[in-house]
Amino acid sequence: MSVHKQDIKRITTHQLQEMKNRGEKIAMLTAYDYSMAQLIDGAGIDVVLVGDSASNVMAGHETTLPITLDQMIYHAASVVRAVKRALVVVDLPFGSYQGSSSEALRSSIRIMKEAGAHAVKLEGGHEIKESVQRILSAGIPVMGHLGLTPQSIYKFGTYSVRAKEEAEAQTLLEDAKLLEECGCFGIVLEKIPAVLAGKVSSSLHIPLIGIGAGPDVDGQVLVMQDMLGITQEFKPRFLRRYADLSSIITGAVGKYVSDVKSKSFPNADEKY
Ligand code: KIV
Repeated sequence: MSVHKQDIKRITTHQLQEMKNRGEKIAMLTAYDYSMAQLIDGAGIDVVLVGDSASNVMAGHETTLPITLDQMIYHAASVVRAVKRALVVVDLPFGSYQGSSSEALRSSIRIMKEAGAHAVKLEGGHEIKESVQRILSAGIPVMGHLGLTPQSIYKFGTYSVRAKEEAEAQTLLEDAKLLEECGCFGIVLEKIPAVLAGKVSSSLHIPLIGIGAGPDVDGQVLVMQDMLGITQEFKPRFLRRYADLSSIITGAVGKYVSDVKSKSFPNADEKY
């Protein structure tokens, strides 16, 4: 019996809240294209993030800043076409929401309409409050992102752990509460001390998804290329590699090259 899209129960933001309430951890990964999104959705991932990390892993930029809204929509539409079960969250890229709340709403509407996304994610706290409220008032689910916010890399100057000092930790906690009050359905906490993440977790009711934020949160997110061992140089302490795809791909391609050169591919059966 074949499984049709309509037979599969989709994950919703409400289900994520229920998962948190019953203590079930949420598994989230990034994806940027149809084939990989289909694989990770089939493997049971709860949330697929079309992250602006596409700027790094797909396009080879040094930062997330160059990727455009049109490019994010292209990636997101490919992912949405593949995903049958997971919730698809899409990053608003740098420059598509910082200008004004109407710009933020316009960009979010494009992502929902043109890509068919289920929710959007924005980086920041009090400084984007108005935008978050405006997007939410249009009925679009919003996920926050606090701690290390890569779109502000030139302000921080480094990708090191955030909120180690008391003042920044306090601001982060207040920003998290503010995003919850606004109506965000969840928040990504990136690269902050585990103790602080636990403190935020015990002060909030909505799901918190960590990346380098320790175990005391409601779920984890990783960049797919990092956890599959496709990216090689990126080795932060929080990253667990579940495969060494770079060796597998390099080995397979090397074998193909030598088979073509030695004329052993194609053989007598591999032709018409
Ligand atoms: O863009 C991205 O991949 C992200 C994750 C690192 C959370 O925002």
